[in-house]
Amino acid sequence: MSPTVSICFCSALFAVFSSCASFPRDTLSADSENVPNKLETRYRRQAPVPPVVSYCGGAPFSTATHICCNGNAEPKTGSTPMCCDSNSYDPLSQICCEGTVSHKATSPGAMPACCASDGYDMSTQLCCNDNVMHKPTGPTALPGCCGDHSYDASVQLCCDSNVVPKMGSLSACCGPNSYDTNTTLCCDSNVAFVSGPQAQCCGSQGYDGATQLCCDSNVLPKPGATGACCGSQSYTQDTHLCCEGVIVLKAGPSFACCGSASYNQSSSLCCGATVVAKTPSKPVCCGSTSYNPVTEICCDGHVGTRAGLTSPTCCGGAVFDAATAKCCDGVPVFNVPSCAGLA
Ligand SMILES: *[C@@H]1O[C@H](CO)[C@@H](O)[C@H](O)[C@H]1NC(C)=O
Ligand SMILES: *[C@@H]1O[C@H](CO)[C@@H](O)[C@H](O)[C@H]1NC(C)=O
Repeated sequence: MSPTVSICFCSALFAVFSSCASFPRDTLSADSENVPNKLETRYRRQAPVPPVVSYCGGAPFSTATHICCNGNAEPKTGSTPMCCDSNSYDPLSQICCEGTVSHKATSPGAMPACCASDGYDMSTQLCCNDNVMHKPTGPTALPGCCGDHSYDASVQLCCDSNVVPKMGSLSACCGPNSYDTNTTLCCDSNVAFVSGPQAQCCGSQGYDGATQLCCDSNVLPKPGATGACCGSQSYTQDTHLCCEGVIVLKAGPSFACCGSASYNQSSSLCCGATVVAKTPSKPVCCGSTSYNPVTEICCDGHVGTRAGLTSPTCCGGAVFDAATAKCCDGVPVFNVPSCAGLA
């Protein structure tokens, strides 16, 4: 039998007999048949107890005073020592969390538990993202975690992992802050102090739609009931026009925009963003000019005369006489019966 096996054998039996070192093994085996008697014999004999030597991590240690934890001989602590990784601890007063020994909550009502590698008391503490935090107390408290911290949801909010006080009776989060939804607005995560039935957001600002305008994220005073935005500016629709982002004077009720300018719709035409005179003989636009549809024809924005043509027709951007030519692929071709074969 190898020395190791022998020592193990000895250690196992040591629990039953006060000493096995003085016993021949054969006798021991026989003794186990009738343990009580032999025990009495043993006690009566009062043989000196030699120190028992066992091995831990290859080194001898005393099982009477030490415990072998993960190859480390550790001094026994408490009445029922246990191993925590390579350390010994007393499970009655200590707790083993992820291989680390820490103090164990033992007060009445305590609920010891692990928070990552720390011990904590679930009755008075919270484990928030592996951090031990104070647990809010009180009859109405609603304890919870907010990121790494604890908070009381009865009086606080968790906004973007920030603990913030509740605001008013209808509190909500606005970015990392809290706000009272009854009296303030949350605009782009900013708390805007504006109230009233027409309170609105303008970018990150608040404004009152009854008296103000939001023009390109600018809050401006509303210039009267017909106030409106023109780009980032405000204007009055009674007196001005907003033409392509330019505020221009509205000289009369028949004025409208033509490009970025205003014009008199009663006296002018807006042809291709160009203001041209509107006359009884030329009442219609053709491209950027006006023309007379009775005497002229508008082909692709180009004006051509009907004079001398039996059947004036557009061909591409030009006028031709369909009585004498064919329009082949946008080009007038004379003296052919059809366009066939011309392509
Ligand atoms: C909202 O605010 C108004 C005036 O500030 C107040 O009278 C009302 O009670 C509030 N409503 C709530 C639900 O708190
Ligand atoms: C607009 O044109 C009409 C018709 O020509 C004219 O009676 C009116 O005075 C013009 N308005 C202005 C402000 O020029």
